[in-house]
Amino acid sequence: MKKRLLITGGAGFIGSNLIHYLANKYPQYELLNLDLLTYAGNLENLKALEGNPNYRFVKGDVGDRQFLEPYFATGLDGGIHLAAESHVDRSITQPDIFVQTNILGTQALLDLARKYKVPRFLQVSTDEVYGSLGETGYFSETKPLAPNSPYSASKASADLLVLAAYHTFGQPVLITRCSNNYGPFQFPEKLIPLMISNALEEKPLPVYGDGLNVRDWLHVKDHCQGIDLVFHGGRVGEVYNIGGNNEYPNIDIVKLIIKALGKSESLITYVKDRPGHDRRYAIDATKIKKELAWAPEYDFERGMAITINWYLENQVWWQTIKSGAYQQYYQKMYGQRERSFS
Ligand code: NAD
Ligand code: DAU
Repeated sequence: MKKRLLITGGAGFIGSNLIHYLANKYPQYELLNLDLLTYAGNLENLKALEGNPNYRFVKGDVGDRQFLEPYFATGLDGGIHLAAESHVDRSITQPDIFVQTNILGTQALLDLARKYKVPRFLQVSTDEVYGSLGETGYFSETKPLAPNSPYSASKASADLLVLAAYHTFGQPVLITRCSNNYGPFQFPEKLIPLMISNALEEKPLPVYGDGLNVRDWLHVKDHCQGIDLVFHGGRVGEVYNIGGNNEYPNIDIVKLIIKALGKSESLITYVKDRPGHDRRYAIDATKIKKELAWAPEYDFERGMAITINWYLENQVWWQTIKSGAYQQYYQKMYGQRERSFS
């Protein structure tokens, strides 16, 4: 069946992977990609879709109701909302834009989706809304929200507004909460592409704190599969966690990358910790597995090998990013960060 879907944030890491995934799986769908092209948005990620008559890009802000209205007025069969400020470190230095985009932008979309009776609206959220875990336990969908960073607080706020739209107005909304993604087209401010690209450039690999914070990694295509299943088959008003049971301390990830690239561990540089650094994330994905038969395809070893290879084969992609405004960002974030260990 033909459907017309709005994807917000489609020029970012997960959004661009999702658009490729949907364009490939549902070639008859019309995909409208709305993205502001902030520092994190990159149309290079979607080059392969240029000329595809069922794909269209529109540059715009999710908070700009006037601009958005005509796109809703033409009739949408659904919206998948990924546009966000997504980097925890940036939220510590500039929280306002996280409130603006992640909270107010989500409310603008919800209001328009209600006005134009969009039959399905999926909010792509994060496991970070649950806060931090100790050495044991998992995040299930019923765990109370306890966000710790301005980023996660803004995502938790947006999630609550989405659920309020369901409870108050009966709006057909859904939420997914995924763990850390890795894969192609990830902006090199995030751990894995930062470490791969720095290692290839023989630059220091900045590990925060003691390097023992744990993240639960999932290949981005497995996340896209989960979004697809929830969007098409999930129960409205419900939250679905997505995660692949792949917990690793950060230092293990860094060492894995060093080994795969044949570099020296002397590149590892322990730096001052991230303020309020969540210790451990781990997802319980039982609900999406049971209800929607979601199952990740990538085991971590294979997913990482393919990913490292992608960054090796696409050096121009990340070198172009790193040669621009990124350099000022890097100096600001890491230039003053004294070494905490050697
Ligand atoms: P990203 O930073 O790579 O991409 C975000 C995209 O949103 C960019 O293309 C940017 O231009 C766009 N954008 C930002 N502000 C906008 C605005 N005001 N209007 C329109 N577009 C705007 O982020 P990502 O890692 O791809 O994450 C996408 C979504 O998935 C986010 O909502 C994030 O919270 C969520 N998420 C990410 C992860 C992860 O590991 N990366 C895990 C779980 C959930
Ligand atoms: O859990 C899902 C979340 O994962 C998403 O909601 C966020 O959008 C996404 O950015 C990611 O957040 P993290 O803060 O976990 O990802 P990041 O890649 O920034 O950091 C991963 C871990 O690596 C974290 O413990 C901090 C550490 N780190 C990160 C960087 C950039 C370092 O040690 N050194 C670094 O230079």
